[in-house]
Amino acid sequence: MTSTQPVGAGTLTLGGDITVNRLGYGTMQLTGPGVWGPPRDPVSAVRLLIRVIELGVNFLDTADAYGPQIVEDLIREALHPYPGDLTIATKVGLARTGPAEWGWIPLGRPEYLRQQTEMSLRRLKLERIDLLQLHRVDPTVPFEDQIGELKLLRDEGKIRHVGLSEVSVDQLHAARQIVPIASVQNLLNLTNRSASDVVDYAAAHGIAFIPYFSLATAGLDGAGSALDVIAHAHGRTPAQIALAWLLRRSPIVLPIPGTSSEAHLAQNVAAADIALSDAEFAALSAAVPLPDDRDE
Ligand SMILES: NC(=O)c1ccc[n+]([C@@H]2O[C@H](COP(=O)([O-])OP(=O)(O)OC[C@H]3O[C@@H](n4cnc5c(N)ncnc54)[C@H](OP(=O)(O)O)[C@@H]3O)[C@@H](O)[C@H]2O)c1
Repeated sequence: MTSTQPVGAGTLTLGGDITVNRLGYGTMQLTGPGVWGPPRDPVSAVRLLIRVIELGVNFLDTADAYGPQIVEDLIREALHPYPGDLTIATKVGLARTGPAEWGWIPLGRPEYLRQQTEMSLRRLKLERIDLLQLHRVDPTVPFEDQIGELKLLRDEGKIRHVGLSEVSVDQLHAARQIVPIASVQNLLNLTNRSASDVVDYAAAHGIAFIPYFSLATAGLDGAGSALDVIAHAHGRTPAQIALAWLLRRSPIVLPIPGTSSEAHLAQNVAAADIALSDAEFAALSAAVPLPDDRDE
């Protein structure tokens, strides 16, 4: 498999020793409906994963919960033996009880985190997971027990780096007192910037920020809006400009847009080349007030 670098956005170093191109791919869209069960067309899903690598993407985000387990199997089937520069980040700590949205339940008991890590190692056919993310903090389990188990897994060499998902600055800070944290994955996009404080904390401490749901532009792309005008000026789609805005937000931001479409994949990778001017970045940022600016 050959790979060409996405040029525009450069690279990012995770945990001090893994360098990846600064536009990844999120694999959640590769399951059946409701992030449950196998994809309708598994052959296309495998082909898409191969295309991801061919386009130069070398950071994949997945989770045991996607399917559950379906996507990790697909990744192994499509890409093992893995290209040397590929980083696969997975997540543990969410139980699934069905295809509906309410079927995502934090489950942070240390023995479950360990079991799921072992299962991810087996499914991905890896001896060590480069980046293991705690999918959600479980409010019913002591925080230090959850992070402590990830530290143990790291000390044992089963994982290389620890990441967190959907955490506050306080939680991120507390976790760092237990084990080095390489990344944080929170919701962030043009329309929802409630994680801005986490981005700033991550940037100050050399932690990668991996935004999910990165393509959302609802309500911002009407005719004549800043997003519409800037998209036309660049000859790009609003989704591409949304990615360019994230890439411009901070050099520690690593977007992972997800898609099951090869055409969208190509557009998303091409967004890494877009250079927004200072004025364009400011106009897009001003389109939605920061959380602190909103009326309570
Ligand atoms: N940590 C967490 O709790 C968490 C939660 C959610 C997601 N994630 C991760 O984040 C990744 C991305 O999140 P996401 O899939 O929810 O949201 P997303 O990447 O913002 O959006 C995906 C949606 O946008 C469409 N799309 C993709 N590229 C497009 C384009 N160029 N133009 C127009 N539409 C496009 C996709 O449909 P098509 O398939 O038709 O392209 C899909 O419906 C996931 O794959 C997963 O790895 C993490």
